[in-house]
Amino acid sequence: MCNDAFSNTDRTRFVNSNDPQVAPVTEPKDWQPDSWQSKPAAQQATYPDQDALGAALEHLKNLPPLVTSWEVNSLRELLADCAQGRRFLLQGGDCAETFAECRSDVISNRLKVLLQMSLVLIHGLELPVVRVGRFAGQYAKPRSADDETRDGVTLPSFRGDLVNGAEFTPEARIPDPQRLLKGHARSAMTMNFVRGLIDGGFADLHHPEYWDLAWVHHSPRASEYHSMVESVASSLKFIETLAGRQVGALKRVDFFTSHEALHLHSEQAQTRQVPRQWGWFDLSTHLPWIGMRTAAVDGAHVEFCRGIRNPIGIKLGPAMTQEWLTELLDIIDPNNEPGRIVLIHRMGADNVESGLPPLIECVQRMQRQPLWVCDPMHGNTESASSGVKTRRFGNITRELETAFDVHAGMGSRLGGVHLELTGENVTECTGGARDLTDDDLRRAYKSTVDPRLNYEQSLEMAMLIVKKKASQGRAGLG
Ligand code: PEP
Ligand code: CO
Repeated sequence: MCNDAFSNTDRTRFVNSNDPQVAPVTEPKDWQPDSWQSKPAAQQATYPDQDALGAALEHLKNLPPLVTSWEVNSLRELLADCAQGRRFLLQGGDCAETFAECRSDVISNRLKVLLQMSLVLIHGLELPVVRVGRFAGQYAKPRSADDETRDGVTLPSFRGDLVNGAEFTPEARIPDPQRLLKGHARSAMTMNFVRGLIDGGFADLHHPEYWDLAWVHHSPRASEYHSMVESVASSLKFIETLAGRQVGALKRVDFFTSHEALHLHSEQAQTRQVPRQWGWFDLSTHLPWIGMRTAAVDGAHVEFCRGIRNPIGIKLGPAMTQEWLTELLDIIDPNNEPGRIVLIHRMGADNVESGLPPLIECVQRMQRQPLWVCDPMHGNTESASSGVKTRRFGNITRELETAFDVHAGMGSRLGGVHLELTGENVTECTGGARDLTDDDLRRAYKSTVDPRLNYEQSLEMAMLIVKKKASQGRAGLG
């Protein structure tokens, strides 16, 4: 999926580095892929048949990996660039993928939106964009309660397609280990299709028309987007005229994957050592992240993540403290390694101004260099008048804009965004250019978990980031 997969310099750079800025990586002490099992593991499913679970995991352990260690190492270097302001991270996709939506149209529409957004960002920020999908494995979900009660009937909560079924029946809600194998297969199908599309030229900057969604032309933002496309096309032509040839590097883009590293048995089964590479790699995804509900310093998720070479995302909510963050960074990134940590804050529009500064201050005091990313979705979930879960576009943009300001005001840098979005024409978040209302939510609400930005709202978000960065530039910030 990553085109410069073979340009890995990780071993020399981090292990034998002569660069005094880069501390050598020391082996994580007393860590094994299963050492998390001696710690309290939050948000895990209870499988009634342990033998069946063991058999499925044994099978999973021997299946080919979904990503390679070269790609993981290469992403770590790109994330280090994002932290330094040399690139910008765009991370996005579904809240939860579903097995049923492992379909070519859903996958290619999601890819189209991410490509269009990155084109807007490249054009406006004049920076290369690192694209990381929330896909090819985003099948497990944390829940606020272990059980769900409807009309007096209580059943185990739905924990994502990797674990059990969403239908509210006793059979569907029993955790089924065969789902781990189905999840791996669907992740592999998704990866295969994405890699095929990209290698086949779908992501070629010379042909952004491939990314048009059927209804783009009716969008209120269509003309703004199409004039950007024209401007990119003419810049490309200009560069190629000067170079006297097609610019090969611009034909292809990198795409990486990410998911919440929640189901630890599944992550462990896909964690491997690789010939001629140092350390252990979780080869189920390039960028696993630790969710807000599983970030306890003495918990199993932190234990698992500290030992793998993948870059690690950590979600930071309003409850995060300086002490907690200090411990997390010391445990997961004891070597202060460039590109190792992605701090994804999701404070909520009302909390970001007060909640974020202490965390930035903490990182500055520790002289750390994480990549800061804003997830303006998860702190802004609310119930619409009908009771359905929604997010208001105005709150999402307010959190993001405030986050840019808070970082710039403290001499820090917001280096990316993390969004829940889809290429489907859904109505799950209100507001945006079409000013969707609570009533519109009835029309096309498909998410089984969190509400996502639709195509137009996503594109609008990319344009807003560009405008915000431009206004900060004019004000001499950021
Ligand atoms: C998510 O990213 O879907 C999620 C559950 O996030 P958080 O852990 O930040 O609530
Ligand atoms: Co979510």
